[in-house]
Amino acid sequence: MVVTVLVLLVALCVPGGKGEVRQEAQRTGHVSVVILGGTGDLAKKYLWQGFFQLYAVQAGSGSTFSFYGGGLSPADSAKPVLFDILKAVSCPKDLSPERCALLKEQFLRLSQYRQLKTSEDYQGLAEHIEQQLREEGMTEAGRLFYLSVPAFAYADIAEKINSSCRPAGGAWLRVVLEKPFGHDLQSAHALAAQLGTTLQEEEMYRIDHYLGKQVVSRILPFRKENQNSLDPIWNKHHIERIEIVLKETLDVKGRIAFYDQYGLIRDVLQNHLTEVLMLLTMKPPANVSSIEEVQQNKLQMFRSLLPLGKSQAVIGQYQAYKSEVQQELNKTQDHVSRTPTFAAVLAHACDARYEGVPILLTSGKMLDERVGYARILFKNDMFCLQNRDSVHCKPKQIVFYFGHGSLQYPAILVSKNLFKPVQKDADWKEVTEHTNVSVLGLPITDYYVQTPIEQREAYAELIAHIFAGRKHSFISTENLLASWSMWTPLLSSLTGAFPRIYPGGGDNGDMLDVHLKGNEISFNSKVVIISPDQVAHSSTNDFQVMQGKFRSAEMVSAWAEELVQRLAADLQEAAEAAVQKEGVFHLALSGGSTPIALFQRLVLHHFSFPWRETHLWMVDERCVPPTESESNFRSLHDHLLQHVRIPYYNIHPMPVQLNQRLCVEEDGGALLYEKELSKSINGSSFHFVLLGVGYDGHTASVFPGSKVKELRKSMVALTESPIKPHQRMSLTFNAINRAHRVALMVMGKGKHELITQLSRVKDNPDKWPVTGVKPTRGTLIWYIDYNALIG
Ligand code: BG6
Repeated sequence: MVVTVLVLLVALCVPGGKGEVRQEAQRTGHVSVVILGGTGDLAKKYLWQGFFQLYAVQAGSGSTFSFYGGGLSPADSAKPVLFDILKAVSCPKDLSPERCALLKEQFLRLSQYRQLKTSEDYQGLAEHIEQQLREEGMTEAGRLFYLSVPAFAYADIAEKINSSCRPAGGAWLRVVLEKPFGHDLQSAHALAAQLGTTLQEEEMYRIDHYLGKQVVSRILPFRKENQNSLDPIWNKHHIERIEIVLKETLDVKGRIAFYDQYGLIRDVLQNHLTEVLMLLTMKPPANVSSIEEVQQNKLQMFRSLLPLGKSQAVIGQYQAYKSEVQQELNKTQDHVSRTPTFAAVLAHACDARYEGVPILLTSGKMLDERVGYARILFKNDMFCLQNRDSVHCKPKQIVFYFGHGSLQYPAILVSKNLFKPVQKDADWKEVTEHTNVSVLGLPITDYYVQTPIEQREAYAELIAHIFAGRKHSFISTENLLASWSMWTPLLSSLTGAFPRIYPGGGDNGDMLDVHLKGNEISFNSKVVIISPDQVAHSSTNDFQVMQGKFRSAEMVSAWAEELVQRLAADLQEAAEAAVQKEGVFHLALSGGSTPIALFQRLVLHHFSFPWRETHLWMVDERCVPPTESESNFRSLHDHLLQHVRIPYYNIHPMPVQLNQRLCVEEDGGALLYEKELSKSINGSSFHFVLLGVGYDGHTASVFPGSKVKELRKSMVALTESPIKPHQRMSLTFNAINRAHRVALMVMGKGKHELITQLSRVKDNPDKWPVTGVKPTRGTLIWYIDYNALIG
């Protein structure tokens, strides 16, 4: 009501008003902006302000606008809330008060609330936009939907936008999505697939507001502009450590319903800090404004990160969190949440430039100060005999300072003992007058300091990019999935882990200091505060590795993590024994997702594994090129080969691609592999074969109904799978059963039913191929985790 009245008044009173806007519309067109969740927190704090700034910049330069705050509440109750938010937007510094007042009046007049709940509401909105365009004779430039709503609502809203609100006549549609984009890799995939059915990739703008921070968006240009000084030192020989840090003093009161399901790693590390990490470590693109090149280089960097496991992270939780959860989620006093509010993660990249350089990502709520930065600390190769205070004896570092903390403004700082950075960006300046302040161990005067001439809010920056259709500061689907691939294994390995409880603020003292040792990270002090109720719940750790029998063969069983540890240890023992006896270890590995945990364990913990003497063979392969994600070789490469020092000539991929075609009988790929193994392996007997078993009982690529007897003549055969890709190449039982040792690895609740069935059925390899695994002279051991065994 209030808004309507005001709209009318302003429409009558603003000189030029609508006419001015309309006239310019003919040149560049009309843009409708719809903020869903338009009266919510984010909209109130940043979005309306950002759109006002956009309007202030664009109003005089051609485009016209309508703004809609959308929400589920009826208009009567939501209009006044929106009006209050709009009234409170502040004036950009560079505008005179008179001009700003005028623009603000126009902005208010152009903004309105709409209830957007049902399909009809969306149709109504589209009709309203079209009618306005018609009535005012405007050409449409585009429609911008900003989804500031919980992620579970995305697919439904995207569907409604797609069916009723697409603009016609070549105007653009841009849909902006706020994080969280999923909860793990699987849910991110599902969400991406769902959105992919209604929106085109180029229509989606996934926001990570860190990419809008001025310092963050300067990282790549800075690296490029200073390439001459940086190239010689930006590598493992000179970098001591990379740190990316976001410390916050606030708690999460008021947002526990969301936070308790996500926790700090998903809220901050998976997105903000990971994006900063990418910008710091990716190969600088030849052209910083080429979106494709930046994306490709980023993805390449993601691929070179070593897998993260439990030993690469420590987690904490501030003490009061427990009672906040009890209150906000209506839980009883004995409810315990293990959601971390603090985390420190140690990453490493397996790449010629950064191999061995510790990369620390850390963030927490309720810490002693609010500050965010990324620091590249260089090795100091000086030995100072007398004047330790001389500038060349001090730490050498580059700091990308996002803001707050001792400095209080965003800046890029380069310690003077490194080099003087060039400064080519007209929006930035060098700071020469300093207050008496220290930044990360050095007085400010020991740095060259650059800062933006005018500080701008990240959301306002990103909104300007969206309006301009510049996609380089947004998260593509591939980028998103790569990040979740990095974080999901760590998150799963932390399930059930107890965070260290910390008091909060300055009282944390050195409780959260961490110690980096090789690939592992731990809290430095051994004080662990665990409340007694937490101890009472920690039953899962009470199980030990258990030995027994399964289908009259040996069985090892444990919780997934211990099981993988045990299998990796057994594998190393077998490898060492073979190398000692014969000087070589022949290992055949199966594909699929189950062995990935084993590969990670080998990569991160088995530094003395005799890779140099190991020959790697494949149990089976899908008939796809090795570069495709479905290829078993590709998976083996990504999760194992690229991270260990195995000589290239010891690697034996299955030759599924010959004569530029895949798995054609006449090309003789299977025979070729068979010959290769008889040539290299004594009696064609592998020392170790690692197998898995599928839900239908298949093992290697021998599927039910494969007529196992017919496969007996050969050691390698082309087979058919009931699921895509159908064509496969596989070792036959003839090859498998000659092995000295066969390990059958089965993990996950999903396999429980299968394990129950297998425990009952007789040997029948045609129906249950895995029952054909019977080493003639060697041993078979089943490695079954408790989830698969007990269900
Ligand atoms: C948000 C997180 O994305 O980023 C918050 O959800 C966090 O938990 C915030 O506080 C940090 O952003 P900034 O810009 O304040 O550093």
